[in-house]
Amino acid sequence: MRTTTAIHALAAILLLPFTSATRIIPDSKGKLPLQDGYDYIVVGAGIGGLVVANRLTEDPSVSALVIEAGNLDDRAEDVSIPGNIGFEDPRRYEVKVKMAEQEFLDGKVRIFSQGKAVGGSTIVNGLVWTRGSVADFDAWERLGNPGWAWSDILPYFEKSESYSAPVKNVSGAQPLLHPVAGNHGDRGPVQVSYPNYYYNQSYNFLDGIRELGIPINEDPNSGNATGASIVPSSMSGKNQSRADARTAYLDPALERPNLHLITGYSVTRVLHGNGGATSSNSTHDPRDSGLRVTGVEKTTISCRKEVILAAGAIISPVLLQVSGIGPVALLESLGIDVAIDLPGVGSNFQDHPTLQPVYEYTAPDIFTAWDIVGSTRDAVRQEYLTNRTGPWTAPMVNAAAFAALSWVTDREEDILNEAANATANLPPSYDSTLRAGYDAQRAELISMLARADTPAYEVMSTSWGQLAVSAMQPFSRGTVSARSASVFGNAPPLVDPRFCAHPVDCRLLLLGLGFNDRLIRTPPMAALAPVPPPGFGAADARNETALDEAMRSKITSGFHPSGTTSMLPLEHGGVVDPSLRVYGTRNLRVVDAGVIPLIPGAHIQAAVYAVAEKPLGLIVDDYNTDESEETGGRYYQG
Ligand SMILES: Cc1cc2nc3c(=O)[nH]c(=O)nc-3n(C[C@H](O)[C@H](O)[C@H](O)COP(=O)(O)OP(=O)(O)OC[C@H]3O[C@@H](n4cnc5c(N)ncnc54)[C@H](O)[C@@H]3O)c2cc1C
Ligand SMILES: *[C@@H]1O[C@H](CO)[C@@H](O)[C@H](O)[C@H]1NC(C)=O
Ligand SMILES: *[C@@H]1O[C@H](CO)[C@@H](O)[C@H](O)[C@H]1NC(C)=O
Ligand SMILES: *[C@@H]1O[C@H](CO)[C@@H](O)[C@H](O)[C@H]1NC(C)=O
Ligand SMILES: *[C@@H]1O[C@H](CO)[C@@H](O)[C@H](O)[C@H]1NC(C)=O
Ligand SMILES: *[C@@H]1O[C@H](CO)[C@@H](O)[C@H](O)[C@H]1NC(C)=O
Ligand SMILES: *[C@@H]1O[C@H](CO)[C@@H](O)[C@H](O)[C@H]1NC(C)=O
Ligand SMILES: *[C@@H]1O[C@H](CO)[C@@H](O)[C@H](O)[C@H]1NC(C)=O
Ligand SMILES: *[C@@H]1O[C@H](CO)[C@@H](O)[C@H](O)[C@H]1NC(C)=O
Repeated sequence: MRTTTAIHALAAILLLPFTSATRIIPDSKGKLPLQDGYDYIVVGAGIGGLVVANRLTEDPSVSALVIEAGNLDDRAEDVSIPGNIGFEDPRRYEVKVKMAEQEFLDGKVRIFSQGKAVGGSTIVNGLVWTRGSVADFDAWERLGNPGWAWSDILPYFEKSESYSAPVKNVSGAQPLLHPVAGNHGDRGPVQVSYPNYYYNQSYNFLDGIRELGIPINEDPNSGNATGASIVPSSMSGKNQSRADARTAYLDPALERPNLHLITGYSVTRVLHGNGGATSSNSTHDPRDSGLRVTGVEKTTISCRKEVILAAGAIISPVLLQVSGIGPVALLESLGIDVAIDLPGVGSNFQDHPTLQPVYEYTAPDIFTAWDIVGSTRDAVRQEYLTNRTGPWTAPMVNAAAFAALSWVTDREEDILNEAANATANLPPSYDSTLRAGYDAQRAELISMLARADTPAYEVMSTSWGQLAVSAMQPFSRGTVSARSASVFGNAPPLVDPRFCAHPVDCRLLLLGLGFNDRLIRTPPMAALAPVPPPGFGAADARNETALDEAMRSKITSGFHPSGTTSMLPLEHGGVVDPSLRVYGTRNLRVVDAGVIPLIPGAHIQAAVYAVAEKPLGLIVDDYNTDESEETGGRYYQG
């Protein structure tokens, strides 16, 4: 039921030193020539923000303003050329966010990287393009999100991409791919394709994997996610360069007069005003849907319809918290006025714990990405620029294996029991709703671990012998918490993924390392003469205690933070409903990786694009419905 309570909110922006801007740039007095009002104000120009802004403004009568903290990237070679990704120096479009000390690993601090640019993390990511499995998304629906099963979201996977299969043999390589017909988009904004070069070591890896009984998956994005493959990438098959949220969703829309973008500005808060509200109760029951947001401070731009938070899974929950929407105990401890007591904001935090041991290939005459220096670099660069072929077309991760649990251990039962019975070690701040939500998720995770088409872990291979292992169905949960009443306060937010808080996550990583040890001893891999890093050798691999010790100091983020503003029922700790609207609000949504309720067993960018494509109809329908319900017609303008 809607109430008549209308808490008006403003998003405050802080003027940061700006270096470049598109469309809307400050005048000589530093004033932004913004329109008096926009229908939608979108916070953050990453995947979520740009997809939503693009789709909403396809209707010329709808206006949107996107506010992005970073700037337009310069399209330099280190951004756009797949072979350079990961080697950028300095990393101009990344911010480093410190994690809390990881008490379940080695007690040390680690870093989260996040993109800060128009395009968000897609300007810096590794291009790997995987959807996850049917079971991942069917679980989302069973967790209480009608309309989010695999069959519901597949059309949006397809809508977001233009897939082109590898068309020719390059360097004698066989891509080993047979994309399932009808499963891929062919006219979406994101180019998805394959490089024109595969390192030979990718085939040593795939052959070795096959010797260990893991099959080749000829279409890892068909919904059956297990097996080994040359991985698809978010890159153009034609010009062999990075496909990102900016090229896909902003560049084609730049001429729209109804879409405005400001860069170099950070939103600091969603402010609550009381513009004509009929109730003065400032603590809002999240089961009502009364909160309305109206605009942006500073030049006081009003929003006629909605504010959409898309600042990513680490910042969006902090913005909610400093705006008075979050767990009441946290907000009160920071002296923040509580607008909505919403326990889930910043919780259900998930990531894929990952480690990247390098088993250096020491056989002679092996060509790797590290050999691209000096005159070789000049030649490789020339070949890329002239012909769009050669090693610079290949991203860092060329081949990957997604292993089902039953394929890699004969102790499957023990592990499933441990998953079910071990103390979950949830953060003490989790209330009964979050705990109930976790129990439902744990049941889904266990059933997925027992399946052959969802992976327990992934092994990612690079040309130089890195065999990164990443747990795909993490049971640990963390928190993101403001530590100051302002995002720019003295204390940065406390970001704590709590890796391996649930012991089964480290158990799965350990299995993956044992698998690496067997893999490097298969004849195809042994031909490369791989040398394990200290602590990861054969003797260590046979001694679980020793391997576990070596492992824990190396575990870090898989770059997939998610879940912090989960789409789940309120009684399961949810923050947004299946239309991605924040509970207790009328016109505030979150559209970014934070809404993922249960992280897919995959690299998540494809899912974030699909998630962001999906709510368009819901957003527009809401307004059509709301307007007919409103007395007095349009939304109040503050
Ligand atoms: C180094 C790295 C490698 C990765 N590799 C892969 C990969 O190979 N494959 C894959 O699938 N995924 C990968 N990812 C993950 C993927 O890119 C992200 O999951 C995805 O981009 C998340 O989308 P988003 O919309 O949630 O946020 P983002 O794309 O991160 O966008 C959020 C945007 O909001 C902006 N912002 C933040 N705070 C504010 C504020 N207060 N005001 C205004 N703007 C703000 C940020 O500057 C940023 O531009 C990688 C990520 C990283 C960091
Ligand atoms: C591609 O290469 C494989 C083996 O290297 C060969 O069998 C096949 O005929 C080639 N295909 C084309 C189209 O050249
Ligand atoms: C890759 O392997 C093929 C076939 O063995 C060989 O001809 C080629 O020279 C190798 N490429 C590199 C860069 O080593
Ligand atoms: C998924 O694919 C793998 C091979 O990649 C196969 O072994 C498995 O049976 C498939 N599972 C299902 C449910 O189709
Ligand atoms: C590659 O092509 C895409 C269109 O498919 C375009 O958006 C992008 O700017 C191009 N990149 C380069 C570096 O030419
Ligand atoms: C405010 O709302 C809360 C929750 O709905 C209620 O318990 C409280 O009594 C209200 N306070 C006032 C002053 O109306
Ligand atoms: C580009 O391709 C052509 C045709 O295959 C080849 O002759 C030429 O040497 C290539 N150029 C470079 C710089 O690699
Ligand atoms: C663990 O859980 C399983 C069911 O998942 C149960 O059958 C088993 O007895 C439990 N083991 C212990 C030690 O509690
Ligand atoms: C296994 O490693 C641990 C820690 O390094 C060591 O204490 C122990 O003696 C080792 N056990 C065996 C059987 O080698």
